[in-house]
Parts: sequence; C-alpha cells; structure tokens
Amino acid sequence: MIIIRNEKPDEYRETENVIREAFWNHYTPGCNDHYLIHIMRDCPAFIPELDLVAVDGTRIVGNVMSLKSYIKRDDGAVFDVVSLGPIGVLPDSQRQGIGGKMIARSKEIARQLGCRAILLCGDPDYYTRQGFAAAQVYDIRNSENMYADALHVCELYEDALLGVSGRYYEDEIYDVDVAKAEQFDKLFPPKEIVKGTPTQNKYEKMVRRVKAPC
Ligand SMILES: CC(C)(COP(=O)(O)OP(=O)(O)OC[C@H]1O[C@@H](n2cnc3c(N)ncnc32)[C@H](O)[C@@H]1OP(=O)(O)O)[C@@H](O)C(=O)NCCC(=O)NCCS
Repeated sequence: MIIIRNEKPDEYRETENVIREAFWNHYTPGCNDHYLIHIMRDCPAFIPELDLVAVDGTRIVGNVMSLKSYIKRDDGAVFDVVSLGPIGVLPDSQRQGIGGKMIARSKEIARQLGCRAILLCGDPDYYTRQGFAAAQVYDIRNSENMYADALHVCELYEDALLGVSGRYYEDEIYDVDVAKAEQFDKLFPPKEIVKGTPTQNKYEKMVRRVKAPC
C-alpha cells in the first residue's frame, strides 16, 4: 500500500535519488532536479507541509515539493499562490496512480493552509487529467508576459482566482546553477547521459509554445 506523508530529514538523500531516477534523461540529458530539491529545502519560499513522499513499504517511490510564489496583476496587486514541483515517481512505479495521489494530497494540504491556487509548468497531457487547466483560461501569463502552453493552474476553492489575472512569478531557485548541479551529481552513482530522447524532443517543443496576449 502506498502512503503519502511528509519527508523526514534522514530521508533527504534517498528522496533526491528518487527524483534523479525519475527525471534522468527525461527532459534534458541527465537532470538537475535532485540538486534543485536539495537546495529547495533551505529556500525561504519552501513550504515544509508540502514536501511529500510516497512510500511503498520501506521504500520511497515518489516525491513532490512546492514553493510560495505569486501572481502580479497588471495594476500591481500581488496574490500569493503555490508552485508545485518538482514531482517525480521512480520509473518502475510510474503509471500506477502514485503521482496522482501526491498531487491530490498536495491540493488538500495547500487548501488547508489557506492557499488560493497551485500553478506549475508541465505536460498538458498529464496535468489536465489531474484537475489543472491552461493558465491562459485565467489570463495568467508567465513572468515575461507570455501565454505558455506548459503553464497550468488549479484553483483550490470556488472562484479563488476571480479577478486574479496577470503575470506569474515563481521563485528564482528554479533557475538552477548547472555547474553546481553537476558537482552535486558526483555524490550519486554514475549514470549514462543520453541526448535526443523522445521525451526530451517533446519537452523542447512544449516549452517553445508561448504566445503574446492579443
Ligand atoms: C509525471 C509523473 C510524476 C506522474 O506520476 P505517475 O505516478 O506515473 O502518474 P499517475 O499514475 O498518477 O498518472 C495518472 C494518469 O496520467 C497518465 N500519465 C502519467 N504520466 C504521463 C505523461 N507523462 N503523459 C501523459 N500521461 C501520463 C497515466 O497513464 C494515468 O492515466 P490513466 O489513469 O488514464 O492511465 C511520473 O510519470 C514521473 O515521475 N515522470 C518523470 C518526471 C516528470 O515528468 N515529472 C513531472 C514534471 S512537470
């Protein structure tokens, strides 16, 4: 049985390895996401209640983390929201509902914390099945004021985003220092780096799908 619960400090390296295994060669050759979660835990925007692991027996098979972020309306008003991600499930445990369970639990906890909405960048094929809608539906643009196909929104209560549109700003920690990430990766067993996988090609096309508001 899969249990979703908060991550414990003595599990940090195991969780980082789960994220590494999930993301390795998926969106880019290798990955930086295990370094990202390593530094996220010390970030002021970190929300410890939303640092969740999926546990199967004694093994961690999935992890999701979230950060505080905000939407800035065109008139300058600022509204706090939550950025979900990274989320990852070990390759041998994917497509068994574990990612969905972690997202559902994140929504529940974020709602209990009084959060308005969860935003994330990811594959529309997956997130539209998880109760997210394209951000454009809410007239929410990225920080460069562009509609992005990858940007998704989930309101946490009815009309939570009524009157809330504008630019979405996520924490700058998501812009990972690649050299530091590569250094951190040396703490893990070597893995082959593969370029040009189908998922990398799909991701490259997805992130290019942005358009300016009319
Ligand atoms: C994305 C991820 C977290 C999903 O976790 P998961 O446990 O495999 O997902 P679930 O089993 O809950 O998926 C639920 C549904 O989404 C589908 N699905 C899963 N991954 C999908 C994907 N990448 N694209 C489209 N559909 C997907 C499943 O088939 C399932 O649909 P179904 O019930 O109709 O069969 C996991 O696949 C993963 O770690 N991927 C690599 C890292 C990654 O991409 N993270 C997300 C970054 S935004």
